[in-house]
Amino acid sequence: MTAPKIRAMKQKGGKVTCVTAYDISSATLCDLAGVDVILVGDSVGNVVLGMETTLPVTMADMIHHTMAARKGIHRALLVADLPFGSYQASVERAVESAIALVKAGAEAVKLEGPYTEQISAIVRAGIPVMGHVGMTPQSVNNFGGFKVQGKGDDAEAVIAAARAVDEAGAFAMVLELVPAGLAAQITDRVSCPTIGIGAGPRCDGQVQVFHDMLGLSEERFRHVKAYAEGRKVFIEALQQYVQEVRDSKFPGNEHSV
Ligand code: KIV
Repeated sequence: MTAPKIRAMKQKGGKVTCVTAYDISSATLCDLAGVDVILVGDSVGNVVLGMETTLPVTMADMIHHTMAARKGIHRALLVADLPFGSYQASVERAVESAIALVKAGAEAVKLEGPYTEQISAIVRAGIPVMGHVGMTPQSVNNFGGFKVQGKGDDAEAVIAAARAVDEAGAFAMVLELVPAGLAAQITDRVSCPTIGIGAGPRCDGQVQVFHDMLGLSEERFRHVKAYAEGRKVFIEALQQYVQEVRDSKFPGNEHSV
């Protein structure tokens, strides 16, 4: 899978599938399942590193997890998130950060918001860029929480941001937590595929967080469908292991060398 192929899927009418992954095991499972785009998201901060927001995630974190996920991917496109602070201050900083993620194994990078100069410069440096508009978690403090964006007067601002990201050269863009009707309007007005999360069915593709969609997260969000009861399955398996060790039922002869 390549960025131009993902971009071309919009014209062909194919839906883009994207799931986050942060290590070799999760990336291998996504790749084997036929997911088109594997995103090493800065959600690694909340989901894996126990942070409240994505704001503390560093370039070192993203490089570490991109290198780990890379080893599990043979077909999908690997996109890595530029973390907060790695691109906002200057175009030079953005290009250098994007290059560092490519050296770690990314084939494209994602950044949040209409940083059009940064997007164009990274694309000029040879690196495809995925945009991200709507509820961009790195701006949580501006939004006053993880709130739906574009519900009222700010709808035009979300449309303008999406169009700017598209015109700057993004090959695809995430639309996060925007009303379904607005996401449909944006999808019709931009040339690149829109990849929704909490943005309704009219996007050109969908993205889900690995731990949420497999039911591994404690919290359940409206925009998430749990395709497996991961917590239940794993806790039951672990309880069985604990009991069998305590009862001297494991290991048996078949597990002894
Ligand atoms: O970091 C992430 O996982 C993301 C997705 C939710 C799109 O940005």
